[in-house]
Amino acid sequence: MHALVFHKPHDVRFETVPDPKIQDPRDAIVRVTSTAICGSDLHIYNGLLPQPKSMVLGHEFMGIVEEVGSEVTNLKRGDRVVVPFPIACGRCFFCTHDLPVACESSNENYGPEGGLVRQKGAGLFGYTDLYGGYDGGQAEYARVPFADFGPRVVPEELTDEQALFLTDILPTGWAAIDWARPEGGESYAIFGCGPVGLMAMKSAWMRGASQVIGVDIQPYRLAMAERAGHASMVIDASKEDAIERIRALTEGRGVDVAVDAVGMEADESRLARLGHMLKAQAGNIKALELAVRAARRGGFVSVVGVYGTDYDRFPLGQIMDKGLQLKAAQAPVHVYIDELLEHIAHGRLVANDIITHELPLRGGPLGYDVFNQKRDDCVKVVLKPEWS
Ligand SMILES: NC(=O)c1ccc[n+]([C@@H]2O[C@H](COP(=O)([O-])OP(=O)(O)OC[C@H]3O[C@@H](n4cnc5c(N)ncnc54)[C@H](O)[C@@H]3O)[C@@H](O)[C@H]2O)c1
Ligand SMILES: [Zn+2]
Ligand SMILES: [Zn+2]
Repeated sequence: MHALVFHKPHDVRFETVPDPKIQDPRDAIVRVTSTAICGSDLHIYNGLLPQPKSMVLGHEFMGIVEEVGSEVTNLKRGDRVVVPFPIACGRCFFCTHDLPVACESSNENYGPEGGLVRQKGAGLFGYTDLYGGYDGGQAEYARVPFADFGPRVVPEELTDEQALFLTDILPTGWAAIDWARPEGGESYAIFGCGPVGLMAMKSAWMRGASQVIGVDIQPYRLAMAERAGHASMVIDASKEDAIERIRALTEGRGVDVAVDAVGMEADESRLARLGHMLKAQAGNIKALELAVRAARRGGFVSVVGVYGTDYDRFPLGQIMDKGLQLKAAQAPVHVYIDELLEHIAHGRLVANDIITHELPLRGGPLGYDVFNQKRDDCVKVVLKPEWS
């Protein structure tokens, strides 16, 4: 089959690789009809998450069930499914406590310690050997472990584009808001107007937001956030002091909930990046610092942007003094996916309006480059294996 194979940073190729096969009675093989490139893929692409050997990328995918193992009784050949990005068994302590990203059974590097150079959580599709070394879904076919727990059947009337983001970015944006337990009327500052930030904005309105402030440094992304009504107000952090402005908009206090939807690849000079690398830090915590500053005293900071290592100057004193709550995690997709599928099916949530590029799978290397460089007004790239 054809797949997008990561070889080394900035070197992703469209290549022929062996077809995946059922390896366990709980596996399924899915023929991928749509797959997307995620900001998280860029961390591998840019070398911040190391991957020493070649690997098929991709953790956002959906398609048609081709074959199921003997223990998969809930799916059959021909079903159209969307697949959550964390690989979770559904039976261990964490899976039965609504923490599928902490599944104990899907990653040989698993352990209680946590962190890039220590032990990891659940396996993830196409997301380095650290996360289980599973081949991903930017391919014509994908092996889906624990297929009796993860994939969800998609109603016929929904297009792939409508359902695809249930794999990751919609539940991720939703988690960022849900973790703050909103009751309605909250103000939000969302740092990062990329796909994840936009999904957080949609989720905030669904949960009764009074104000949603979008912050980014890319004018075209701010324009999309504003044009589509995702944000009630946008701030270009490269042109003005975002924190001053946020405080001015919130009677000097700051927002009830600040979301970091940027992660460790916030803009920084090459020199600063080198300095961080010398200290064994992957990227920087600039966006997290902004989110902590933007939140009001007693407020909530949701960190869905990905961070890899430990970081110097983590603002613990500020968090303590302000009495903030902070939660950072990969999204528990399995927990939210059914509720979100309902919202999409009933038209209460629309996720596909952020797609700017649809390409054949063969165009994946270009898609990575354009998305990474934020060229051609790119917000979200969807790849179609059937078009290749
Ligand atoms: N927690 C999860 O489960 C989960 C799931 C998906 C993605 N993610 C992570 O979420 C983050 C965002 O993903 P994405 O797909 O939207 O990526 P993206 O790269 O498209 O978006 C990031 C945005 O941050 C902006 N940005 C950079 N520096 C900034 C700064 N100083 N201030 C404000 N904005 C700044 C960029 O211009 C860009 O628009 C990534 O770190 C990704 O790994 C996490
Ligand atoms: Zn993702
Ligand atoms: Zn489990």
